[in-house]
Amino acid sequence: MGLHGFQGRGSGARLTNPMKPRPSFVPKDFAGNCKIFPERDVMLLPYQKRWVMDNSKMKLCVKSRQVGLSWCTAYSVIRRKLSKGARLDAWIASRDEIQARLFLEDAKRFVEVFHAAASDLGENVIDDAGNTAFTLRLANGRRIHSMSSNVDAQAGKSGDRIVDEFALHPDPRRLYAIAYPGLLWGGQLEIFSTHRGTANYFNQLILEARHKGNPKKFSLHRVTLQDALEEGFLYKLQIKLPADDERMAMDEAQYFDYIRAGASDEETFLEECMCTPSDDASAFLSFELIDACKYQAGEKWEMSLSQLRE
Ligand SMILES: Nc1ncnc2c1ncn2[C@@H]1O[C@H](COP(=O)(O)OP(=O)(O)OP(=O)(O)O)[C@@H](O)[C@H]1O
Ligand SMILES: [Mg+2]
Repeated sequence: MGLHGFQGRGSGARLTNPMKPRPSFVPKDFAGNCKIFPERDVMLLPYQKRWVMDNSKMKLCVKSRQVGLSWCTAYSVIRRKLSKGARLDAWIASRDEIQARLFLEDAKRFVEVFHAAASDLGENVIDDAGNTAFTLRLANGRRIHSMSSNVDAQAGKSGDRIVDEFALHPDPRRLYAIAYPGLLWGGQLEIFSTHRGTANYFNQLILEARHKGNPKKFSLHRVTLQDALEEGFLYKLQIKLPADDERMAMDEAQYFDYIRAGASDEETFLEECMCTPSDDASAFLSFELIDACKYQAGEKWEMSLSQLRE
């Protein structure tokens, strides 16, 4: 096993000892081969619980892909906005419209988990510039607005701010600059993302928090694929998989190697799953440079020969 191979460090405090019999909550017919089980039959894994229960004003999480951060953040928003004292709306910015819709779908399911009521207000225009959001209104009047990434849509909104996949937004620095003043009247800012290169503003926020005195006072979280596996992620996955899925036969170390072998290269694996940003210096064109050259939907980009000759 290489440098970053799954070592199964297993902290006895948090995990069921793999040598012990399966905990009693595991269904008798569970066919997965995971060795690590959550301590109790709870919905959230420990790293998700730490994120959800952190009420800091400024929160930032660097994460592996697909460890359930969007999902547990949707839970967290509903939990907070249903509470008695909730007085602010929440604004969620996702990297695209599909993710914005999915966030609201997860949020609606969690409203049911809490046996609460909400009205889905559908897609609505939220400002004079014509930006739209999918909105859910809870019975207590609080609203949850889920929008795709348009930096300008962040302006003029007060309440809680959540930015999902921050590093993948077209201009993370500007997004932060516009979103932050919205907190002056209260509310939380939650940023979470997988890395997207060393030069990305997301990585700069993390470096500033870790090595430059944390002037923005972020509460930092970090979840690698290894962290997630050590806290029972594979059990949660296998309990949902069909019996004939190849991942059912895997234990944590085999699953880790499977994901690693499937990544396009080691640098990508380290960035996507181990919270290690890839070095922009080694990329021929940086992501930010490529993004800056993209056309917006509907923008006219074709030119006729005569226009080119002009
Ligand atoms: N504790 C859990 N119990 C059951 N299912 C879970 C749990 N955590 C995550 N999931 C499932 O994992 C799936 C992926 O979660 P989610 O999309 O939130 O991951 P993500 O970290 O945001 O991924 P991405 O990196 O693609 O944005 C969800 O559909 C959710 O159903
Ligand atoms: Mg996500």
